[in-house]
Amino acid sequence: MKIKLDILRQENSTSEPYRQTVIFETEDINATVATALTEINNNPNIKDTEGNRVKPILWECSCLQKKCGACAMIINSKPQLACNAQLKDYAKKGTVTIEPLKKFPVVADLIVDRTIMRDNLTNMKIWFNSQTKADETVSDIMYESSRCLQCGCCLEVCPNFYVGSEFTGMAAAVPTARIISAVPEEQKKEIRTEYKKHIYNGCGKSLACRDVCPAGIDIDKLLVRSNAAAIWGRKIGGKKKK
Ligand code: SF4
Ligand code: SF4
Ligand code: FES
Repeated sequence: MKIKLDILRQENSTSEPYRQTVIFETEDINATVATALTEINNNPNIKDTEGNRVKPILWECSCLQKKCGACAMIINSKPQLACNAQLKDYAKKGTVTIEPLKKFPVVADLIVDRTIMRDNLTNMKIWFNSQTKADETVSDIMYESSRCLQCGCCLEVCPNFYVGSEFTGMAAAVPTARIISAVPEEQKKEIRTEYKKHIYNGCGKSLACRDVCPAGIDIDKLLVRSNAAAIWGRKIGGKKKK
């Protein structure tokens, strides 16, 4: 397989972005964008289509198993995980465009600063104040919520999220569902206020985020249950106790 990679590059956070095109060849039919970036970086002699040396392409990865969310980037206009984006899916077109996520400040090349996601969760003060044992009726919500990779793909397509906005987007709403589902009564008022301010009031419920979530999280279910519990004070449990 031979494919052209059109990569948006930037040396550091203040330098001008530029595009670099590299032809990548592999016999591995399951090669991903992560494979291509790794192999290009491992080849010190590789040149771009204009004959220039290709400096190491900076990007983040950890698990290479779709589990950590580190390698999120925009591939052919869609936010997704580089370790899950198979090159054969783009081979017909012959070119794959690779760009950093656009909602976050670029650090260098394909690395962006996603600190805002952690800061948003911290600022919302949504956590358990005491040791809490979750009710078994909410175990499905707890599990689904815990699958969030904090990759930021959902924020990329969200029309209402931008860095600095009060609305914290689905990357905060998903982990919050876990807390809302099990929080003790005495802490509920505070959590409801934060949820309403930072999630409920800003979400247009278009669910564009659901369609790009690489973990396939059941965002509709979490949103419906969290809204029920945090806004209307209903019980969030879905499973019946035996
Ligand atoms: S449902 Fe729409 S507005 Fe709400 S978080 Fe998802 S993309 Fe954003
Ligand atoms: S909800 Fe999905 S898209 Fe958003 S941060 Fe979590 S895993 Fe990524
Ligand atoms: S490297 Fe962990 S999800 Fe891709």
